[in-house]
Amino acid sequence: KAGWPGIIKAYSSRIPIPAGAEVVTLGEGNTPLMPAPHLSEVTGCTVYLKVEGANPTGSFKDRGMTVAITHALASGLRAVICASTGNTSASASAYAARAGLTSAVLVPQGKIALGKMAQAVLHGARILQVDGNFDDCLELARKTAADYPVTLVNSVNPVRLVGQKSAAWEICDVLGEAPDIHCLPVGNAGNITAYWAGYTEYAADGVVENTPRMFGFQAAGSAPLVKGEPVAEPETIATAIRVGSPASWDPAVKAKNASGGLFEAVTDEKILAAYRLLARKEGVFVEPASATSVAGLLLTAADGRIPRGSTVVCTVTGHGLKDPATALEGNVEVEPLAVDPRAVASALELS
Ligand code: F0G
Repeated sequence: KAGWPGIIKAYSSRIPIPAGAEVVTLGEGNTPLMPAPHLSEVTGCTVYLKVEGANPTGSFKDRGMTVAITHALASGLRAVICASTGNTSASASAYAARAGLTSAVLVPQGKIALGKMAQAVLHGARILQVDGNFDDCLELARKTAADYPVTLVNSVNPVRLVGQKSAAWEICDVLGEAPDIHCLPVGNAGNITAYWAGYTEYAADGVVENTPRMFGFQAAGSAPLVKGEPVAEPETIATAIRVGSPASWDPAVKAKNASGGLFEAVTDEKILAAYRLLARKEGVFVEPASATSVAGLLLTAADGRIPRGSTVVCTVTGHGLKDPATALEGNVEVEPLAVDPRAVASALELS
């Protein structure tokens, strides 16, 4: 018997699928909840990282995509479409390939990280680059799905968020309770909505007694929820969350308010500092958008908005290998050296 069966089978009572549907899975979920000793020391809290880069396509999107593609296959339609800043398209194209469906992805031209593009290419997606941002792509994808026989697999498809609830359940299953505070990067705002739904569902069913405060962090140049109005031209190094008009705006605001949480903006500089810190001090390589949750943790712990002694989970949403260019550009002080094979020890100053 193979091991972990993927989230639909692991949480079968909580993730309904159509009767008789064939489950399309790549073994997503069951990702590490890693203690973060350095961050714990700096903040005076007990900090864990929910490492979502460990999913099959390298991001949390797989949790929703297994459910969306399972439904799409059962529906009898042969094609799926999505708009994406990169990770949704990587996930959709992989799960569609697995299911034998065709996939089309709409991405903002020049604004998706190299690894994500490589994934869509190799999985055989039809890739359409749009001269516009994610919000424009989503509008086009919605229109196409409304007019043609193709399933929209963005998080506006509600079954995606049902799958994404599983991350909150896994955290509670490991800790035996919900954390005090949950930090997330926020782009289109589906994930914070799904986590809150997952936590409140577990609490309502008596699996846990508490729910966390939801802390949502956006990049400063792309922070509509912090500003309280859409951003026409979002900009940030964290291309995954370069979203000006989040589709799940209202439920995200509800999650923040009902949980006693907050939205806050962090600069690209702070995002990159957290990105490097995670790699160097915790040994965890994430993509820049993912470091937004940790940049936010550091900011709100330093100014007292996170009480010392709290249990905090930061979701790091995507793998660092998604965006090799930013890793190399952002770290010029670590230059690979050309070395004479006889001079390794002296180059390392060992001799
Ligand atoms: N982190 C990463 C790595 C992401 O790819 C995304 C969203 C988020 C955080 C934010 O999650 O949108 O639910 O608030 N990426 C989408 C995409 C927009 O197209 O892959 P959210």
